Amino acid sequence: MKTILVSGGNSGVGLRAAQEFVARGHRVVLLGRNRAKGEAALASMGSGKDRASFLSVDVSTHDGVRDAANRVLAEHDRFDAIVHTTGVLMMKEMRTSDGLHPFFTVNYLSRYHLTQLLLPTLRGAERPRVVMMTAAVPPGEADYTPFPEFKPFSFGKMREAIQLGNHHYAAHLTRTEPNFVAGVVNAGAVKTDIMRETPWFMKVGSKVVGPFIFDSVEKSAHNVVEASLRDDWLLPTYWGKVGNFDKQTPIVLDELTTRDVMDRSREITGA
Ligand SMILES: NC(=O)c1ccc[n+]([C@@H]2O[C@H](COP(=O)([O-])OP(=O)(O)OC[C@H]3O[C@@H](n4cnc5c(N)ncnc54)[C@H](OP(=O)(O)O)[C@@H]3O)[C@@H](O)[C@H]2O)c1
Repeated sequence: MKTILVSGGNSGVGLRAAQEFVARGHRVVLLGRNRAKGEAALASMGSGKDRASFLSVDVSTHDGVRDAANRVLAEHDRFDAIVHTTGVLMMKEMRTSDGLHPFFTVNYLSRYHLTQLLLPTLRGAERPRVVMMTAAVPPGEADYTPFPEFKPFSFGKMREAIQLGNHHYAAHLTRTEPNFVAGVVNAGAVKTDIMRETPWFMKVGSKVVGPFIFDSVEKSAHNVVEASLRDDWLLPTYWGKVGNFDKQTPIVLDELTTRDVMDRSREITGA
């Protein structure tokens, strides 16, 4: 039986992955903000409910991540995998109390920070792994000059650099932590709560075209589940094709850029 932390596991794709882990006999710890969704998520586990728990946390700030890590560590000293499916889709200018944009902190930095604080819990696993979900962003180059403030925020110009932070972290973990594997999974397009902070016209657009383009939540969660449980992948890997675990792209990035992104992440979080 594996123990898997699913950050973002009270909703959408993360919840679907967590349900699958429990259905296959594993234990899950779910993180998310909304307590009611957390309770509903646990209730949805049916007879496996006693192998699931939920902590209400907010990972958009440095202190929020530290609090989340402390509360997780108070109850758990070992994980086989950490899965990050936290995400917000916020296009307008906004700042957390740390002066950073929530799209950056939730969709990248919290993954780095929380995992770093929980590394000791993973090191005891036979093949520890970290799996991070993003939108479709194949490994590649991006402009990291605005990192970490990304100010003034431009979703169109900056989203790729922010999401590619996950690829850099996957490459870094695989390179620096013995036996670790880490990867990034494209979510595809799925009807979840992710649209809640988007402008009205995007919500209307997704209602109109959604039925023609949306993947099912099961299909979107498939690669996360396989990457978390299977042992037949070794390289830092990007799964770009939703629902197809065999279509794997090795994450090959400029090592100096990875070092720079990691150095700056360490500098702002202290982790
Ligand atoms: N659905 C899509 O079409 C799509 C497309 C591209 C990428 N993605 C990515 O896929 C992943 C899964 O998203 P989803 O579609 O399943 O959306 P979702 O249902 O909205 O799930 C997002 C999760 O992130 C959690 N979260 C957000 N902000 C948080 C914060 N500050 N602190 C702690 N938890 C926070 C949410 O918890 P609460 O609900 O409690 O706030 C929820 O569990 C995300 O990384 C998303 O960016 C999805």
